[in-house]
Amino acid sequence: MANSDPPQKESLRQKRITVPKFSALKESAEKITMITAYDYPMAQLVDEAGVEGVLVGDSMSMVVQGHENTLPVTLDEMIYHAEMVGRAVNRALVVVDMPFPSYHLGPHKAIENAGRILKETRCQAVKLEGGADQAETIAALVSAGIPVMAHCGLRPQSVHQLGGYRVQRNENALLHDARAAEEAGAFAVVLECVPGDIAKRITEHISIPSIGIGAGPDCDGQVLVLHDVLGLSSDYVPRFVKAYADLQTDITKAVRQFRDEVREGQFPGPEHGYQ
Ligand code: KIV
Repeated sequence: MANSDPPQKESLRQKRITVPKFSALKESAEKITMITAYDYPMAQLVDEAGVEGVLVGDSMSMVVQGHENTLPVTLDEMIYHAEMVGRAVNRALVVVDMPFPSYHLGPHKAIENAGRILKETRCQAVKLEGGADQAETIAALVSAGIPVMAHCGLRPQSVHQLGGYRVQRNENALLHDARAAEEAGAFAVVLECVPGDIAKRITEHISIPSIGIGAGPDCDGQVLVLHDVLGLSSDYVPRFVKAYADLQTDITKAVRQFRDEVREGQFPGPEHGYQ
């Protein structure tokens, strides 16, 4: 059948980072970059900045909703935000976190929930926390045509079991998890809060990309939470974060200036009104 897409749509599709293209980036000389986004304007900006992956993370529970951990955010809320992000992003691969406990009730329920994410949001893949313990679910999702990014190392959804957010140092268990995720069909694996030398060895032992967060410089890529990168996180910021802007200060300053100009009669001026 002849391709009848308009030229602009066709060129966007060629530029699109698909799941196989994302996995193949492991072999390229350049590092993979990934960042979170939770709404339309921010997703547009991070896509334009040229990252390879956008993650609609369940970190939304903390940085957008103001909860103390990632447990409260619901599947419906993830889908609501992922739909905005999916509509905004034209180039990057968009991955959506499966929230707790949307994949813990067996492969059938996980397919139903991940299927909703793909059907309702225009996003291309899901992420779930787990390795060997989630291998059966990862394999079931993959065989249903749902691409899975695994998340090993520190698993924030298990914060109560772990007793806090701690660096994960059990090399054998970490390697076993990353390998199990790969064997089950995951196309990439996030490594969170893992010592750099261990993350390096894991990266060398798997054929899918490792995306590090607090896992040193030798992973195939890096992911950070957008609010941390922009200096918008008011609460505790982990050691592995680098803020590239101070929007908290800029936003407070701008709003304070607006308030002052209104109070002092400087805004609105004649140029802001109608005759
Ligand atoms: O929810 C999230 O933002 C994440 C990243 C920190 C990897 O899982």
